[in-house]
Amino acid sequence: MDTPKRLLRTLTGEAVWPPPVWLMRQAGRYLPEYRAVRSKVKDFISLCTTPELATEVTLQPIRRYRLDAAILFSDILVIPWALGQRLAFREGEGPVLPPLRDAAGVAALDPSRLMDQVAPILETVRKVRQRLQAEGLGDTALIGFAGAPFTVACYMVEGGGSRDFAATRGMAFSDPALFTRLLDILADATVSYLSAQIEAGAEAVMLFDSWAGLLSPGQFRAHVVRTTRYIVGELGRRYPAVPVIGFPRLAGLLIGEYVRATGVHAVGLDTGMDLVLAKSQMRTRVAYQGNLDPFALLAGGAAMREESTSILESMRGWPFVFNLGHGIVPQTPPAHVAELVELVRAA
Ligand code: CP3
Repeated sequence: MDTPKRLLRTLTGEAVWPPPVWLMRQAGRYLPEYRAVRSKVKDFISLCTTPELATEVTLQPIRRYRLDAAILFSDILVIPWALGQRLAFREGEGPVLPPLRDAAGVAALDPSRLMDQVAPILETVRKVRQRLQAEGLGDTALIGFAGAPFTVACYMVEGGGSRDFAATRGMAFSDPALFTRLLDILADATVSYLSAQIEAGAEAVMLFDSWAGLLSPGQFRAHVVRTTRYIVGELGRRYPAVPVIGFPRLAGLLIGEYVRATGVHAVGLDTGMDLVLAKSQMRTRVAYQGNLDPFALLAGGAAMREESTSILESMRGWPFVFNLGHGIVPQTPPAHVAELVELVRAA
């Protein structure tokens, strides 16, 4: 590879145009070829830890749409699973874990198991890089990822998904020392895990902080900014050339402070973020990634075209990665994705 890939040029600050495009949850249930592979395994974690199958589903959307980035097929809950917390994915219910609510629960987490447990996922990273080369998809960059500590802690403490993550936010106020201990274990595990993904071939990494915006400003600084700055700093010392994309979903007005204080190279913007206002707020010229409403993609047609065109017009001349503001919804027709990618390529 002589010329750097379009995604990597953008993440390091170049206003590449038309912008690179990929979509959060681009591998998944909206694709019939994904459902076919998914039906071969009994549970979702087996899919994530079987390198042949995880490689296959990582590549499926790239083969269909020639996207600028592949994202490793895995899940943010791999870290709690690898630290020893039981994890199941139930049909229609999402992830289920035994709720972690006290010091004994935190003490039971075992970081010494982490790297053995994630070994098959690192094998997937190596295989995806090989396949991209072998299939002539050499301009597609591979993004590795992890959940950011706060969002991962939300699922661990709550024991699954939740509308408001009441137990987690309660613990953050009532036992800040314990909550901080949990986040610090997760932050160290995240540094090890992402470092290993980079060693295996991930060319950029993304930190998903889906629930960051549930916190008060003080708690956001203590639990989102603090842990993200630590992870970005540690990765930056080891791998200064590898960009980190932060995605503090629903951060609102705190987005500028998040970017400045954490040192992320690029920031994922959720659907509610006005891109022009974000630029006026930010002061630092980092790459932006986002923020088409996944429901505009589901609807397709004129609504999708108008929303996408408006995003593209706002971002011309700025380092920008076209993406959704949150993951693709499973009912999305694959043809809508094809039309969207064409529209971005014609910008
Ligand atoms: O294509 C990709 O984006 C790569 C793979 C990926 C998955 N999950 C696969 C997955 C990524 C990057 C994630 C991130 C993730 N996982 C987040 C952060 C982003 C966000 O959506 O907010 C979160 C919060 C999770 C936790 C999680 N995993 C939930 C709540 C669920 C159940 C709900 C759902 O969307 O199905 C999952 C399961 C999951 N992760 C699936 C996939 C493809 C569906 C599993 C299946 O096939 O049944």
